[in-house]
Amino acid sequence: MFEEIKQTAAWIREQTSGFQPEAGIILGTGLGDFAEQIDARFSLDYKQIPGFPVSTVEGHKGRMIFGLLEGRRVVAMQGRFHFYEGYSMQQVTFPVRVMQQLGIRVLFVSNASGGINTSFRVGDLMVITDHINLMPNPLIGPNLAELGPRFPDMHNCYDKGLIARATAIAEQEGIKLQYGVYVGGTGPTFETQVEYRYFKAIGGDAAGMSTVPEVIVARHMSIPVFGVSVITNCGLSDEIGDHEDVQLQGKKAGVKMQLLFRRMIKEL
Ligand code: HPA
Repeated sequence: MFEEIKQTAAWIREQTSGFQPEAGIILGTGLGDFAEQIDARFSLDYKQIPGFPVSTVEGHKGRMIFGLLEGRRVVAMQGRFHFYEGYSMQQVTFPVRVMQQLGIRVLFVSNASGGINTSFRVGDLMVITDHINLMPNPLIGPNLAELGPRFPDMHNCYDKGLIARATAIAEQEGIKLQYGVYVGGTGPTFETQVEYRYFKAIGGDAAGMSTVPEVIVARHMSIPVFGVSVITNCGLSDEIGDHEDVQLQGKKAGVKMQLLFRRMIKEL
């Protein structure tokens, strides 16, 4: 697998004239508009990239954008691979391995999620302070010892320094932030009401179907991570989840997220 990662990274380097991103950004459901903020130099559709699976879900454009944001070199993934689409965990996390090979030193992740904390409202932005993994672990299998240890530590999984910086920026910009624990399940079903209660009981604040695999793989390689969830529905209310609504709420709250990510990247 390491060979495949290196080959894909080498192919990308060739296509992008050796562009070396400093930061990687993964844009979740409804949050792909962020890519428009980037002064794009190169754009590669996932389907062009050797070794990459193809994204199948609506609202995910499926491309990697290389360019400048606030003078920093970034690579943004517009759309990600989900376990529920049928990809293996190795496929889901392959792009993170490739971004590390390309040189990223920090990873920004975003997603749409269902609020479990009853003080959260639709459209809130939650800074992820920790996660609970209810999916298969992406590191199961032979360890890629060149990239990280067999038993990676998961303390400070979401970088405390970056969280503190986000707090300071949010105060300056007048952005309201929530903080909490992201519970990653496989999906594709939204949770039953009892499952939302269960997630709350075990310490969760928001439920989603992504992010955790990519974060685990980034931490395996010691890459600092900053993550935010856009709260698109409230799990413990009586409303039902709806993919269109998730995308719409994502777009609205995405504006706040864009400002936050932009400023954080500027201050890297
Ligand atoms: N549960 C899981 N994933 C989600 C949700 C949810 O309620 N909302 C958006 N993504």
